[in-house]
Amino acid sequence: MTLSESLPPTDAAGADPTVPRAADAHAAAAALDATEAAALDLAALPADFAWGTATSAYQIEGAADEDGRGPSIWDTFTRVPGAIDGGHNGDTACDHYHRWPEDIALMRHLGTNAYRFSISWPRVLPAGDGPLNAKGIDFYDRLTDGLLAAGIEPSVTLYHWDLPQALQDRGGWPERDTAEHFAAYAAVVAERLGDRVTQWATLNEPLCSAWIGHLEGRMAPGSTDLTAAVRASYHLLLGHGLAARAVRAAAPGARIGIVNNLSTVAPATDGDADRAAARRMDGHVNRWWLDPVHGRGFPADMREVYGVDLPERPGDSTAIAAPLDWTGLNYYFPQVVTADPAGPAPYARQIDRPTAPRTGMGWEVDADGLEALIVRLHEEYGARRIHITENGSSYPDTVAPDGTVHDPERTAYLTSHLAACTRAARRGAPVAGYYAWSLLDNFEWAYGYDKRFGLVHVDYATQRRTVKSSGRRYARIIAAHRTP
Ligand code: IFM
Repeated sequence: MTLSESLPPTDAAGADPTVPRAADAHAAAAALDATEAAALDLAALPADFAWGTATSAYQIEGAADEDGRGPSIWDTFTRVPGAIDGGHNGDTACDHYHRWPEDIALMRHLGTNAYRFSISWPRVLPAGDGPLNAKGIDFYDRLTDGLLAAGIEPSVTLYHWDLPQALQDRGGWPERDTAEHFAAYAAVVAERLGDRVTQWATLNEPLCSAWIGHLEGRMAPGSTDLTAAVRASYHLLLGHGLAARAVRAAAPGARIGIVNNLSTVAPATDGDADRAAARRMDGHVNRWWLDPVHGRGFPADMREVYGVDLPERPGDSTAIAAPLDWTGLNYYFPQVVTADPAGPAPYARQIDRPTAPRTGMGWEVDADGLEALIVRLHEEYGARRIHITENGSSYPDTVAPDGTVHDPERTAYLTSHLAACTRAARRGAPVAGYYAWSLLDNFEWAYGYDKRFGLVHVDYATQRRTVKSSGRRYARIIAAHRTP
């Protein structure tokens, strides 16, 4: 098996019989050596572990104007001069809308048994709350059937940042109506896919929608207003709770979770100011998102830090704390922070530790942080099933003259973070799945296409996919877990 190979053609369901299923593929691949296997301690993971990859609609689908899709806030934001590196946008992306059978074949090739993808709200309901776009939902219907035919469990995320522009024009997430429209949209999707999809996430990383999109302005819709950001955070979590209820009503067997991107937070020094800053940053990136959905309400200290009245109504806190069947953790980097009284809320700022290893995003590499967060979710929040719904790294990959993509840094990142999962499992945490971010190189939001996170390289000019050496390593790890 060469590193760069053309994948064979697939049938409409993506279930190409000439692509070997995991076990067969791995039988042919070199086994993990004894040191690698021992370091990973794969036996700590349950036999039904979800070995997945993750993507999101706007980052891979393309087909922005096809089959009745409406515009989203990202179509708008990518047209703002200077908002996106290179002036890139998601119009074509990885052309997954047309190439999904090939992409399912890639998943089979890696040996994964789960795939996390998001539904584009404006593809399904082009105006956010208007009539259903049959061609839009049909796409996800085909994708779901193709995954199941390939033995891959679909894990659906209902919202990965692409709010229909029509709802943004009516105020977006700072307005309560958006939460209610989100629940109605969730019901539409669950009614159509709920007979085959059981694994559902309401929101992906609401922190990014609220704080980066409404406070820092680096993501859509690009506002920099603390009041709007806090109101957006509230309505996102309300939307989560209402959508969870709607999905459960439409699909009684559904397992519902929410996906948060969390960080470990440590003070830069032992001084009081830095320790208080670390507490505020922990509130900003972790507790604000975890406490309400676990029935603890919004943290009092952070309400004070923000100083913005929450648009609370009777019954909201119960709705927000809808029962969770699982918890999604996206982990990329730790944070070391110092006080920043002149900066924006939470008046704390991340510092760069000069000697720390970093990815191509400039993010510090610290696999221990993943272990710590998994254990925290279990011990502090009582999480009963934890999926690592995203974890991965960007490095500037190049295609070698022989067509291969050799990415030792990403391979090391992947391996060390999987080892962190197994350590957390040994400490009793219920780690149920790991979804590598990402299956494919894709549109990395404000960074455009130059940041590559894929286990599979994408040549955007030709749409040729090439499995990187990290993808091959992932396949071998999966095989080693299946074949003790
Ligand atoms: O690409 C993103 C993804 O959309 C959400 N989580 C973080 C990834 C890497 O930045």
